[in-house]
Parts: sequence; C-alpha cells; structure tokens
Amino acid sequence: MLKGKRVLITGSSRGIGAATARLARSYGAEVLLHGQTESQELKKLAAELGAPYVCFDVADAAAVQREIAALSPIDVLINNAGISISKPFLELTNQDWASVLNTNVLGTVNVSKAVIPRMLEQKSGSIVHISSIKGFPHTAGRAAFAASKAALITLTASMAKEFAPHIRVNCVAPGFTETETTKKEWTERTYAQIKETPLGRAAQPEEIAEAILFVAGEKAGYMTGETITIDGGYSVRG
Ligand SMILES: NC(=O)c1ccc[n+]([C@@H]2O[C@H](COP(=O)([O-])OP(=O)(O)OC[C@H]3O[C@@H](n4cnc5c(N)ncnc54)[C@H](OP(=O)(O)O)[C@@H]3O)[C@@H](O)[C@H]2O)c1
Repeated sequence: MLKGKRVLITGSSRGIGAATARLARSYGAEVLLHGQTESQELKKLAAELGAPYVCFDVADAAAVQREIAALSPIDVLINNAGISISKPFLELTNQDWASVLNTNVLGTVNVSKAVIPRMLEQKSGSIVHISSIKGFPHTAGRAAFAASKAALITLTASMAKEFAPHIRVNCVAPGFTETETTKKEWTERTYAQIKETPLGRAAQPEEIAEAILFVAGEKAGYMTGETITIDGGYSVRG
C-alpha cells in the first residue's frame, strides 16, 4: 500500500518513528528518516534500512523550509517528532510551555507548510499527525503536553477540510507506548495506569506503527480529518 511512495517520518531516530520507518520500508516505501540531531541511533537506523536522513529542529521554521526544499517531493508525511515535559501546572515555566508548543504544534505546522505546496502540485498526498490520548480531556494530566496534543486533533480536522480533495490529513493518538526512552521516565503512577488498561500492558511501538501506516496508506483512502485512538482500551476503561 506504500510501495514506491516517498515517506518522510519526523523524529524517526528512535521509538515510534523508528518502528514506523522499519515497517514502511518493509512495505516497499522509500523512507526518509529525520532527527533533530545526527545521533548514533539515526545513523545506525539509516545504515540498517539503507535510507537517507535529514536533521533539523522542527521548531525552526527557516531550517525546515531550507532542508525540505532540498528534497524531492514527499508523498506521505508523518509528523511524529515530539517532546513531553511532565511537571505540575504551577511548576511549568513559560519556557517549558514554549518548548512543548513550539516542538509539538508549531513543529507539525512548520513541516506541513514546507511539504504541502508540492503535494498540491502533485494533486496527492497523505499527512499523519501524532497526538496522544493525553490530547483528550478524559485522560487529564501533563498540562503542556496535553494541550499541545489536543491542538493537533483540531489541527487535523482544519487541515483535512482545507486540503481536500487532494491531501488527506489524519491523526493517531497512542496510549502508553514502551520505547527505550519513555520506559526510563515511567513512574509508579505510569505503571498503575498501565495496570488499569483493559489489555493489561503498554503498546509496542510496532503496534502504533501499524495504525500510522494504515491511516497513511491507500487502504484508508476515504478517511480524512480523523483521529484514531490506539491505547489498549484505556479510554474506555470506565
Ligand atoms: N511513547 C509514548 O508513550 C507516546 C504516547 C503518546 C504519544 N506519543 C507521541 O509519539 C511521538 C513519538 O514518541 P516516542 O516516545 O517514540 O519519542 P522519542 O523516542 O522520545 O523520540 C522523539 C523523536 O523526536 C525527535 N525530536 C524531538 N524534538 C525534536 C525537535 N525539536 N526537532 C526535531 N526532532 C525532534 C527526536 O530526535 P533526536 O533523536 O535527534 O532527539 C526523536 O527522533 C511523539 O510525538 C510523542 O509525543 C508517544
């Protein structure tokens, strides 16, 4: 379903982005990797997949425009790069808010703005934003991260309407996902929440990757403006 498609996955040096890159490659896609920095993880994955990579800060609009202009047109964009700052509301500084919103929201906007004009010229394209179950009010907590991920859900709907019929824009909202990085940050509370999850475990990044690539590909050709939750039933635990 993605054979021969040029797929740019932001934040694909590790975690969900890296799993999505591996799966897209196995589907025959031409994968373009991305990281903020030219990390060992990014270089290792690029060698493993035989895929090129680009590095830029998604929050730096000028760098995003410059780096993406140098690439061939992209068929599928997965806006996966993101950060989280986990502090009580009164301890979150304006700098914390700026970092989270600039990376998660403006980063998604910046990369989309750089990619969309050539998708419009091609009269086709598919974009997937990565939100989180924290973007919905029923999983309250982590105010800055949650607000940024909620913004992506409405951004998905707005962009889908504006760029139809040529570009589909959808969103995936993962629940707790076990990556090398996130696992280190899990607290007792996280483990308790995972225990409350009806499926009784966290997601593996490969399971989130399957949902992302389904939404990205032609099998979801009639889907746009939608956010899919994939959280082991956490949202419906009652
Ligand atoms: N893991 C979870 O439980 C979970 C749950 C819900 C939603 N999500 C969302 O899923 C996405 C991936 O999560 P993950 O846990 O796999 O992430 P991760 O392992 O922390 O990896 C984050 C990726 O984003 C890149 N990145 C971070 N800030 C960037 C910036 N300013 N500019 C460019 N790239 C930047 C990192 O690049 P470097 O390697 O160069 O730093 C890295 O490739 C995120 O949007 C996250 O919010 C994750």
